[in-house]
Amino acid sequence: MAIIKKFRIKSFKNTDPLLEVKNISISFEKRKILDNISFKINPGEILGLLGPNGAGKSTIFNLITGLLKPDFGKVFFGNKDATHYPIYTRTREFKIGYVPQYGGFFSDLTTYQNLKAVAEILIKDTRDQNSRIEYLISKFELDYLRNIKASVLSGGQKKKLVIALSLLGDPKILLLDECFAALDVLTIQMLQKIIVNLQTEERIGIIICDHQARDLLSCVDIAMILSNCKIIAQGTPKELVSNPIAQNAYFGKSFKIN
Ligand SMILES: Nc1ncnc2c1ncn2[C@@H]1O[C@H](COP(=O)(O)OP(=O)(O)OP(=O)(O)O)[C@@H](O)[C@H]1O
Ligand SMILES: [Mg+2]
Repeated sequence: MAIIKKFRIKSFKNTDPLLEVKNISISFEKRKILDNISFKINPGEILGLLGPNGAGKSTIFNLITGLLKPDFGKVFFGNKDATHYPIYTRTREFKIGYVPQYGGFFSDLTTYQNLKAVAEILIKDTRDQNSRIEYLISKFELDYLRNIKASVLSGGQKKKLVIALSLLGDPKILLLDECFAALDVLTIQMLQKIIVNLQTEERIGIIICDHQARDLLSCVDIAMILSNCKIIAQGTPKELVSNPIAQNAYFGKSFKIN
């Protein structure tokens, strides 16, 4: 954890946000899921999203990517109101990389074919496609799985593939929905380093949601807790863990971070 913390960018003053969610509300069949939610993310900032099952975390990602439209409120990328932009425009124009909670790959294609299929959409030049694919294959140690069909990869191998797919297009905003689930300890550490490197080297904005609260808090700058349709607490990892509201609703009294 100390290694990861060392690289954090501390100040985001005087920057325009990469993404801003403004007063978003959504209900499904009259059941309110999100009520007047607002937050923003700056270039080079990592935001953690915590909350119990069913709190609406994946729904927030769906609203950002455009899979869902809010009943009220707006989604801005930079200073552009993109609330009514379709998914493909958001992905291409605002360079969003997305690791969904489930799926996110083509089952019947091999690891390499998955990467190639997405690279062909996102990267114009064939040589650039190939070099980006090989870089990610090496980074995620997928070489020995190159010709294996995605449907028969293990849970963690599938997750690595989907994370590699999300990075193909050099995203500016990366959305990771339960990216640590199913990964072994060393792979989680590798991914945390990749996330922090993306922050420091590429200055991309990242939102991570995960139930592995310790793993999440060790690589985010700021985190918030979603509960009962609202953001009930937010702050740096240290502030959040010692916040009585966050303790009562989510962490419990004995939860500690280094
Ligand atoms: N398309 C939909 N139609 C109806 N209800 C939906 C839809 N999408 C989400 N919901 C409901 O919205 C609520 C929030 O779901 P969401 O998937 O965002 O939760 P989550 O915080 O990601 O939970 P988890 O930690 O279990 O992944 C749930 O009660 C879910 O049943
Ligand atoms: Mg979810």
